[in-house]
Amino acid sequence: MVNIALLGLGTVGTGIVEILEKQNKGIQIKKILVNNLHKKRAVNIQPEILCTDFEEILNDNSIKIVVEVTSDMEKGYEYIRKSLECGKHVITASKAIVSKYFEELSQLAQNNEVAFLYEASVGGGIPVLKPLKEELEINEVLEIQGILNGTSNYILSRMVEEGMDYSSALKIAQDLGYAEADPSADVDGHDTLRKLRILGTLGLQGKILEEDILLNGISNITAFDIEQIKGMNSTVKLVGEVKNLGNAFTATVQPTIIHKNSYLANVNMAFNAINIKGNHVGDINFYGPGAGKLPTASAVLTDVMDVVNNTYRKKNPLGKRQLKNANHKIQGKF
Ligand code: HSE
Repeated sequence: MVNIALLGLGTVGTGIVEILEKQNKGIQIKKILVNNLHKKRAVNIQPEILCTDFEEILNDNSIKIVVEVTSDMEKGYEYIRKSLECGKHVITASKAIVSKYFEELSQLAQNNEVAFLYEASVGGGIPVLKPLKEELEINEVLEIQGILNGTSNYILSRMVEEGMDYSSALKIAQDLGYAEADPSADVDGHDTLRKLRILGTLGLQGKILEEDILLNGISNITAFDIEQIKGMNSTVKLVGEVKNLGNAFTATVQPTIIHKNSYLANVNMAFNAINIKGNHVGDINFYGPGAGKLPTASAVLTDVMDVVNNTYRKKNPLGKRQLKNANHKIQGKF
C-alpha cells in the first residue's frame, strides 16, 4: 500500500475518493486536508482521516504522495512547495498554480528528486501532457492548437446549436460542475491561457509566460454574431494556439471562426481537443472530456499510478530555451 494525502475534498477530491473506492490499485488515502471537519460529504469518509492542519500531513513520513486539489491558488502553492521541499511527490490538478510557478516548482522537484506531475491541469481527462513530454520528445513541436476550456465550449455549442442565450448556457455549465469557482476565468479566456502556457512551454521547451499570450474571451459574442457565423457555414470556438517560429513563437487565445467541416468545429459541449504538429510525426489529435469530476480525477490518479509504479519521467522539463515573443510584432495593429 502506498499512502497518499489529499489536499481538498471538493469536486475533484470527491471523484478521486469515488474511483479509489471502486478500484483500489494499492493506494490508501491516509489523510485529507479540509477546511471544515463537520461538513456533510458526498462520499463516505472515516472522520479520523480528515484534518485541518497541513503540518500533520507534512510531518507524516508514511505519506509519500501529496495530491493537491484545493482550488486555492495561494495556499495550494505553499502546500506544494513545502511538500516538494520535504521530499514528497506532488500531483496537482491546478492549472493556475502550474502556469504561474512552472519553472520554480519543476526545478524544486528535480532538486529534491521527486515527481511534480500535473496531467489533470490541461485537457481534463485527456492524457496529453505525458505524450507531449515523453512520447513526442523526438519531434520538434511546430504548432499546438486547442479547444481547452469545457465551459466556454459548452456555452458556444449551446448558443450555436440551440440559439440559447449566453447567460442560460453559462448557468447550465456551472450546474454541471464544469466552470471554475469564478466563471470569468473560463469565459474571459484566462483558463485557456493558463493551459496554453503549460502546453506551449512543454511543447517548445522554452518559457512561454501568461503575459506573452494575446487574449480575447467569449463574453462579447452575441446571438446576432452567431447567426452571421452560421450563415457562413461556420461555427465559433475559443481556440488557444502556439506557433513555433524557430527562435520565436506566437501565442494567442481568441474566439475563432471555423468552417463546420473542420475537425475543431465538431468538438462540442464540454469536450476538449488538442492538435499537436510535430516535424516528424505530422498532426496528432487528442480528444476527450475536458472537465468534470471523474475525468479530472482519472487524470490525477494516472499521475499517482505513474509515481507508484515509478514510471514517471525523472528529468523535469524546465522551460529554459530562450524564445522571442513574436506577438509583440502584431499587437495593437488590428
Ligand atoms: N473550468 C474548466 C473548464 C475546468 O471549463 O474547462 C477544467 O479545467
